[in-house]
Amino acid sequence: MTKKVIFLEDERHRLMAEQLSAQESISIIETLPHTDSSEAGLRINFETQCVSIQGFGEYATNKVQVDFVDGSLSRRSQHKHLHGEMVAKAVGIKKHPNTKVFDATTGLARDSFILATLGCQMEMMEQSNIIACLIVDGLKRGQDEPELAATMARMNFTQGNSLHYMRAQRDNELLRPDVVYLDPMFPDRQKTALAKKEMRLFQLFGLDEESNLELMLEAAIQFAKRHVVLKRPLKAAPLSGFRPSHSISGRSCRFDVYVAIGL
Ligand SMILES: C[S@@+](CC[C@H](N)C(=O)[O-])C[C@H]1O[C@@H](n2cnc3c(N)ncnc32)[C@H](O)[C@@H]1O
Repeated sequence: MTKKVIFLEDERHRLMAEQLSAQESISIIETLPHTDSSEAGLRINFETQCVSIQGFGEYATNKVQVDFVDGSLSRRSQHKHLHGEMVAKAVGIKKHPNTKVFDATTGLARDSFILATLGCQMEMMEQSNIIACLIVDGLKRGQDEPELAATMARMNFTQGNSLHYMRAQRDNELLRPDVVYLDPMFPDRQKTALAKKEMRLFQLFGLDEESNLELMLEAAIQFAKRHVVLKRPLKAAPLSGFRPSHSISGRSCRFDVYVAIGL
């Protein structure tokens, strides 16, 4: 993937769009081309409804945004069996309802939103400047919905690199969470061609090296007060050199739980 462009439609987003443009050296356009390019690339749309990303050419996708208000995540969060979500079980919410969780790989913040809905205090971090714009916009729109006020108040986002942060703050009792959550994989929820393309697009933002994940896990085990939850593909071997205390498996993925060893 080479070509990236920012489309700025709504002046209210100008500051964020210009900041992203400077951080990533991506140029801004204010009118859309008549035909969409067939060249592989990514467009970050700052439009009136929301901030979204969209792939083109071989990465062609629909617009993807962080959305807590409409759509599947909102429906999922209203489900009466929300406590039965695997991520909730792995974090251990039943026993500790007000758990403080550090989501070290926030992405589109779906897991953070589910955990915040269940009462967790979420500290969220994301390294990608582009994904961070989507998260900030999603949170703003969520904050405009009165019925989401309590959940939104439990979601605190910072843009940054979690590995550096966890290492730097490992002795900071005020910042250390009960649980660190690591999700290096984007979910393969549907098998449609479009969903597969979306996955490929998002893999551009993921952790690309297993060694990096091992460093993340090592730092997380020292930073967390209680335990670390690592989401893995169902059939993947546990990370070498680390032994989970237990695992919770679903149809397509597994949550490995590691006991913390921090002071
Ligand atoms: C698979 S996504 C997480 C999806 C998320 N659980 C959700 O519910 O939408 C992984 C994210 O972790 C981010 N990431 C990877 N390494 C990171 C790091 N060291 N610090 C912060 N974020 C990181 C990637 O940019 C990517 O957006």
